[in-house]
Amino acid sequence: MSILTKNIRSVKKIFSDGIEVDSSAYEVLSDAAKAIKGVPGLCLEMGTRRAGSAKIIINALLENGDLGRSLLCVDPYGDMVHANEEGKFARVDYTNDMRKDTQRNLYRYAHGKPVNVYLLILEDIEYFKRFPDGYPVYDKTKHLMDRYALVFFDGPHDIQSVLTEIEFFKSRTPRGGMWVFDDINKYPHDEAVEPKLFELGWKLAAKKSPKASYVKVKG
Ligand SMILES: C[S@@+](CC[C@H](N)C(=O)[O-])C[C@H]1O[C@@H](n2cnc3c(N)ncnc32)[C@H](O)[C@@H]1O
Repeated sequence: MSILTKNIRSVKKIFSDGIEVDSSAYEVLSDAAKAIKGVPGLCLEMGTRRAGSAKIIINALLENGDLGRSLLCVDPYGDMVHANEEGKFARVDYTNDMRKDTQRNLYRYAHGKPVNVYLLILEDIEYFKRFPDGYPVYDKTKHLMDRYALVFFDGPHDIQSVLTEIEFFKSRTPRGGMWVFDDINKYPHDEAVEPKLFELGWKLAAKKSPKASYVKVKG
């Protein structure tokens, strides 16, 4: 077993519904999902794996009475080479079997709950190419949703990818919107991302390693 795989495995927590997290300090994500009540737009997570973080977002929305939101979970799976940290690219275990498990477990979890969950089998840049004008949500009528109230950045953990993601979401997030970054110690987040967020009109909401959340206050 590689050191990389071992590190990931050492923090994962499996629940009886097959849904699993692989990190810590998820209260930062949960609090951010609660803070967006009243802010219009989608919730989107980049990097879903076994849907542990998606479940945390769903629970936070429901506990907060923030009903009827749409949550997009974007992940290519396919055992692709993954930017697990700055300068380190490797296949981890994000396979198509993991995708199949997650499709079943996540949709089963969301079934009957007042939240619209969509697991999109795409990587970040394909999503950006295909949905620059918004994602169509069908709920009695068609809503082309082009605003993001919550974004969880937990896909590729290299600076170039994170900056590309920021570029897409920066003009599409309304004031009061929240962004949460995971694994901030795996790429130069404090040096290269945080100063940019401050410049763009974002304020730090919470930081607890390995996560940080920000709220849009200007712009
Ligand atoms: C750290 S795991 C996500 C963990 C999950 N958010 C949680 O907290 O339980 C990273 C995931 O990102 C996905 N991923 C890799 N490259 C990606 C990309 N370019 N765009 C979106 N997701 C990506 C991987 O397939 C993997 O499932």
